[in-house]
Amino acid sequence: MTAFTVTLVLVAAAVGLLRWRRPAWYWLTFGVTLAVVRVLVRYGSVMEACGLTVPPARWRLALARAINRPLPESRSPRILRLRPTRTGLVLRLKLRPGQDAFDIAAASDRLRHSFSMYGVASRELRSGVVEVRMTGYDVLKRVQMPGETDPRPMRVPVALRQDGSVHYRDYRAIPHALTLGATESGKSVYQRNLVAGLAPMDVALVGIDCKQGVELFPLARRFSALADDPDTAAEVLDALVVRMERNYQLIRAQQRITADVPDAEIAADIWDLTADLRPVPVVVLVDEVAELALYANKEEERRRDRIITSLVRLAQLGRAAGIYLEICGQRFGSELGKGITMLRAQLTGRTAHRVNDETSANMAFGDIAPDAVLAAIQIPAETRGLAIAGDSSGGWHRIRAPHTSLRQAVNICNRHAHRTPDLPELAPYRHALSTLADAPLPPAKPSPATA
Ligand SMILES: Nc1ncnc2c1ncn2[C@@H]1O[C@H](COP(=O)(O)OP(=O)(O)OP(=O)(O)O)[C@@H](O)[C@H]1O
Ligand SMILES: [Mg+2]
Repeated sequence: MTAFTVTLVLVAAAVGLLRWRRPAWYWLTFGVTLAVVRVLVRYGSVMEACGLTVPPARWRLALARAINRPLPESRSPRILRLRPTRTGLVLRLKLRPGQDAFDIAAASDRLRHSFSMYGVASRELRSGVVEVRMTGYDVLKRVQMPGETDPRPMRVPVALRQDGSVHYRDYRAIPHALTLGATESGKSVYQRNLVAGLAPMDVALVGIDCKQGVELFPLARRFSALADDPDTAAEVLDALVVRMERNYQLIRAQQRITADVPDAEIAADIWDLTADLRPVPVVVLVDEVAELALYANKEEERRRDRIITSLVRLAQLGRAAGIYLEICGQRFGSELGKGITMLRAQLTGRTAHRVNDETSANMAFGDIAPDAVLAAIQIPAETRGLAIAGDSSGGWHRIRAPHTSLRQAVNICNRHAHRTPDLPELAPYRHALSTLADAPLPPAKPSPATA
């Protein structure tokens, strides 16, 4: 008896420890079974308590009265499917007449407490069917990406969402994106994850890193061109505009429009070209974009205008030519001068890490998802890397990228260095790695200030 009690106490302690230190393992071993049992046992009473039931149909009441049976009870949404996942449970519910998806969404916090889950979110799948995703623990505390993701060309699994699903950066769906955040909030780590995800793909990477290249230059072997100061950045962007124009000429040459070519076969972007003709797509990563927009004298102002004009042109026309922008910065608003808000309007994908004030959050979401602004300001300073990701559809998610160290990213880039395409327009800006190690320290530059 004593041995049994001791074993029981030891197992309970082990389970408690697992739950505290390794919630993901706890979930996979015990948590998931307990949660399934809890949801199935409590389902009816929880739905009733949360106000998610409807009275029985009139014909049922009439029938019960006619045959003198007890009156039927109120009905909850029917469970179509209950699927355990790596991080939680997914319930698919068939709504009863008179219910809508908003009822479930409005009750999600009540459901979360009633089922003792960490998070509950819902979305409509089709008319009358709602998916409720529950997470068993805080999946963003220690991000572990699932082993299997759904790989597609130009789609990078970059972070985990709060509901346990994978957040993809899909360049073909959302060509250009803006990532904002205060200093030390996790922008560069997010961008590093993107580079690590893009490295194994057939894509050219171009980096502009005005922090003297500290973030992107270690990854140089996978980059087709790199710029570490605004002068080089202006030249690289000009070269990209030339490349864009050449790509359009190529697409024009391949269109071969005659009366008998069906509309669907007329090439309008690089993805419509055959694989042997298709120019390699280019992702342009800009870290600390504000550095490109600051100037101290007339000459720097001219350079700034040239840079912003090229960026705006790439943002407006680059998509069909396979040129995608990924811009990171601490702030990106009209105080950086003319052309900035025009550029921002073209950056459909928005991600905001922790920001210190509402105006910074407004720069990311003010024009697309006002409630995401509040969520961005509420990100706690100690959870670096936590971010709000939205898009122009108005939807947003809380996401966090895995903590990829610079060493890991360098290893991935070196492993895929042979994939680095040589773009003729950008050849002068390709960084030979040997020069990185031997390069003398650059002379100290006076720091630019806003004019
Ligand atoms: N997803 C993450 N998970 C865990 N830790 C993170 C994550 N992202 C960032 N961090 C931590 O935050 C630190 C700062 O991140 P990062 O360099 O990306 O910030 P930043 O926003 O680029 O700052 P700056 O504007 O100063 O360049 C990192 O060194 C890392 O320790
Ligand atoms: Mg940074």
